[in-house]
Amino acid sequence: MTKAVHPAEPFKIKMVEPLNMISEEQRKKALQEAGYNPFLLKSKDVYIDLLTDSGTGAMSDNQWAGIMLGDESYAGSRNYYNICDAVKDIFNYNYVVPTHQGRGAEQVLFPLLVKPGQYVCSNFHFDTTKAHVELSGAIAKNFLIPQATDTGTYYDFKGNFNIPALEEFIEEVGPDNVAFFIMTVTNNSAGGQPVSMANMKELRRVADKYGKKIVIDSARFAENAMFIKKREAGYEKTSIKEIIREMYSYADILTMSAKKDAIVNIGGMIAIKDDEEIYKGTQARCVPMEGFATYGGLAGRDMEALARGLYEGIQEEYLEYRLGQVKYLGDRLMEIGVPIQYPTGGHAVFVDAKKILPHIPGDQFPAQAICNALYLAAGVRAVEIGSFLLGRNPKTGKQEESPMELVRLTIPRRVYTQSHMDYIVEGFRKVMEQKDQLTGFTFEYEPPVLRHFLARLKPLEK
Ligand code: F0G
Repeated sequence: MTKAVHPAEPFKIKMVEPLNMISEEQRKKALQEAGYNPFLLKSKDVYIDLLTDSGTGAMSDNQWAGIMLGDESYAGSRNYYNICDAVKDIFNYNYVVPTHQGRGAEQVLFPLLVKPGQYVCSNFHFDTTKAHVELSGAIAKNFLIPQATDTGTYYDFKGNFNIPALEEFIEEVGPDNVAFFIMTVTNNSAGGQPVSMANMKELRRVADKYGKKIVIDSARFAENAMFIKKREAGYEKTSIKEIIREMYSYADILTMSAKKDAIVNIGGMIAIKDDEEIYKGTQARCVPMEGFATYGGLAGRDMEALARGLYEGIQEEYLEYRLGQVKYLGDRLMEIGVPIQYPTGGHAVFVDAKKILPHIPGDQFPAQAICNALYLAAGVRAVEIGSFLLGRNPKTGKQEESPMELVRLTIPRRVYTQSHMDYIVEGFRKVMEQKDQLTGFTFEYEPPVLRHFLARLKPLEK
């Protein structure tokens, strides 16, 4: 193993925000009050916040300058047209409907594409995506490749859609029972793992064979493009923008949470390649749900920051630093013996809790046990991506078994430094020292949908 190297930042710091560190005794109390669910902690009680990379990035001076140029007209704001121009330039899609964030795009779009009882097939639905598929009356089906769950073994594109399994499934249930395909880039739930261009092309072939549309869930489209440039033969010299244009040429529609790769604190969109009918349908649904079709729940200033962020997020030097910082944290954790989803993905290091805590079964949430121990040890807030997040089977009410029990250490964009990464590693060292003493959790309060956000837990006896 080569020594972990942190990349030099392609920016300098113009404004700082103080961090607060409370004592271990206070953290114990805070965690208890939060029902052992890091989502319920107050951010003032967190020293380093790795809950999410969503809306937590640092905007640039250029984006803040754009905020002052917000055109707050109710209809036809110039900032909306700046987004349309950027989307045409980067993705080559003709129509844009802004939304307040990614899930706004999902709730506006999905009911237009499904008939109740149909399946929606994805490489992996993000949790809100699955929820909106289900709210529109359809059933969400995931098609991961087997390499995705083999955390210890290197594979270039663990995020890929399992195309043979998809085709087999379509033949089994009949094409009429399948609504459309969602390709999630990068594949968040599998570890921020990328999808290859070849895989996207293959999905297009299947979509054409059965007459289905492809939606790209585009939260981390730029990080995915950078992985293609670094790992897929033939793309070494292709620009990020050209790679993105090719990726999107294989799909029909995109939904985007702009809070990730477009580096804004709020914002999202639906963009459509050329289907005017779907565009009209999304515009009509946007009005009652998100707002008029040229602002979709955003202020003009938010849209300007988004239009500018789309360009900042696809800069190659930035992406080199971004993927490099995540890899640095992953490499350092491996150096001290922490098992992770390897290689590291684009936005987070995913720690394999199943391997660290083999004595805690999935339905006692081993990854949640590690999140809680890490917070107590170091004031670092991480998030569980495993059975706790997955929830119950909607038909049987039984806890579903997640193929992986992961702790996600999600890195906000342009926010933390190398010293922060080193501090996180030291926190993990303390967790590893006490791993055999950790216990699982059970529910004290379990909400019916998307339970992980608001649930309260209690520790089980050893
Ligand atoms: N799709 C993916 C792949 C996501 O990761 C997210 C959000 C969404 C859709 C929904 O977007 O939050 O803007 O409404 N992911 C965040 C996360 C919350 O922490 O991974 P949103």
